[in-house]
Amino acid sequence: MITLIKNIKELLQVRETSVPKVSGTEMAVLPTIKNAFLIIKDNLIADFGSMENLPEIEVDKVINAAGRVVLPTWCDSHTHIVYAGNREQEFVDRINGFTYEEIANRGGGILNSAKKLNETSEEEIYEQSKLRLEEVMRLGTGAVEIKSGYGLTVEGELKMLRVIKKLAQNYPISIKATFLGAHAFPTHYKENKAGYIDEIITKMLPEIAQNKLADYVDVFCESGYFSVEETEKIMQAGIEFGLKPKIHVNQFNSIGGIQAGIKFNALSVDHLEIMNSEDIEALKNTETMPVALPSCSYFLSIPYTPAREMIKAGLPLALATDFNPGSTPSGNMNFVVATACIKMKMTPEEAINAATINGAYAMGLSDTHGSITKGKKASLIVTKPISSYYQIPYAFGSNLIEDVIIEGEII
Ligand code: NIG
Ligand code: FE
Repeated sequence: MITLIKNIKELLQVRETSVPKVSGTEMAVLPTIKNAFLIIKDNLIADFGSMENLPEIEVDKVINAAGRVVLPTWCDSHTHIVYAGNREQEFVDRINGFTYEEIANRGGGILNSAKKLNETSEEEIYEQSKLRLEEVMRLGTGAVEIKSGYGLTVEGELKMLRVIKKLAQNYPISIKATFLGAHAFPTHYKENKAGYIDEIITKMLPEIAQNKLADYVDVFCESGYFSVEETEKIMQAGIEFGLKPKIHVNQFNSIGGIQAGIKFNALSVDHLEIMNSEDIEALKNTETMPVALPSCSYFLSIPYTPAREMIKAGLPLALATDFNPGSTPSGNMNFVVATACIKMKMTPEEAINAATINGAYAMGLSDTHGSITKGKKASLIVTKPISSYYQIPYAFGSNLIEDVIIEGEII
C-alpha cells in the first residue's frame, strides 16, 4: 500500500539522517520543507521532499494537504493513563483551599487511586483506560509511555502492567511500559518502609521481568515519598532486572534526585519544577533527558520547569503530559506545546522539538519516531488549513488536527 501526501504547506521536523535528540541552541531550529510531498509505503516513511522533486510513481491513495501542515505525531514520554475512576472530589477540595500535599497526607492522592484500582477488575480498568488512549491518539499522539504505580501491591502492579500490555497489543500506537511500584508507600507499610522496598525488589521486580511486563523502572523521589537512598536502591534493583530508570524528581523539592538519576544513567528525569543551579549543572554532558510536564504545573498551580535557563545552559528538554487522575487529568500534547510556549517561554520550534524528537528519545524510540526521516514509522499529524505552524501553540484552545496517521493508517 502506497500513499502520497501532496501539496503540504509546511512539512515539519524533517531530518535526512536521524539525530537522537536536540540540545541548547539546536532546539531553536525546526527543519521544514515548504510545498512538500511525503510518500508512505506500508507503515513507513518511504520518501519526502519538495513538490518540484515529486517522483513519478504509482500510488494507491492520494491525500491533498494544500494549506495544511504535516508533522510527526507527538511522542508523550510520561503518562499514567491506566487508572480506575477519577479524583474529581480532590480537585474541588483544592479549589476550596487544600493543597495537593494536604490531600495526600490525609489518605487521598495516590493512595486514593490505589484503593480504587485494587477494587476494580482488570477488564474494567482496560475498558476505562482504552478510552483515554483512543482520545490521545485522536489528539495526535503516536507513541506513549504508560506507568504502573496505582497498584502498590504485587497483584495490583501486575494487573496494571498487563492492561498496558493488552493496550499495546490491541492498538497501533507504540507503547512503552514503566514499572512505578515506588510511587507511594501503602498505608500498612508507613512504619515499615524497608518492608515495602523489599516487596518491590524481591516480589514485584522478578515477576515483572520474568513476564516481560516493563521496559523501564520509575521512582517518585520526593520528600514524603522515596528518599534519594531508597530511589538509588530501587534503580539498582531495576537495572539488575534489565529495566533502565526513568524517574520522577524535583516536583516539589530539590533533594538530589537528579544527581541520583544521572549516577544510574537514567534515560530521563521528569517534572523538574524546582531546579537549582547545581541541578542544571549536573545534567550537562549526560545521556539523561530532562522532561517537563507543564500541564501538571498548570493544573496544580505550581512552578513551571525553568526551560529558558536549561536551554541556555545547553541542555535538551522534552515535553510530556503526565496524564494521570491527580495532578494532570489531561493527555493533550497540543495543550502541552502551547503551555510550554505561553508559560515557559519556549519558542514554537523549541516546543515542537521537545514534543517530538526529544520525547522519542525519552522513551527509547529515537530510531522509529520523532522526525520525518526515511524508514521511520509513518505516524503523522495532518492539520486543518492553517496560516503557519505558529497556530499550533497560538490557537491554544482550538483543535487544529484534521487527520492523525499512525503507522500508515488514518485513525
Ligand atoms: O507525576 N508525582 C507523582 N506522580 C504523579 C501524580 C500522581 C497522582 O497524584 O495520582 C505525577 O504528578
Ligand atoms: Fe508522573
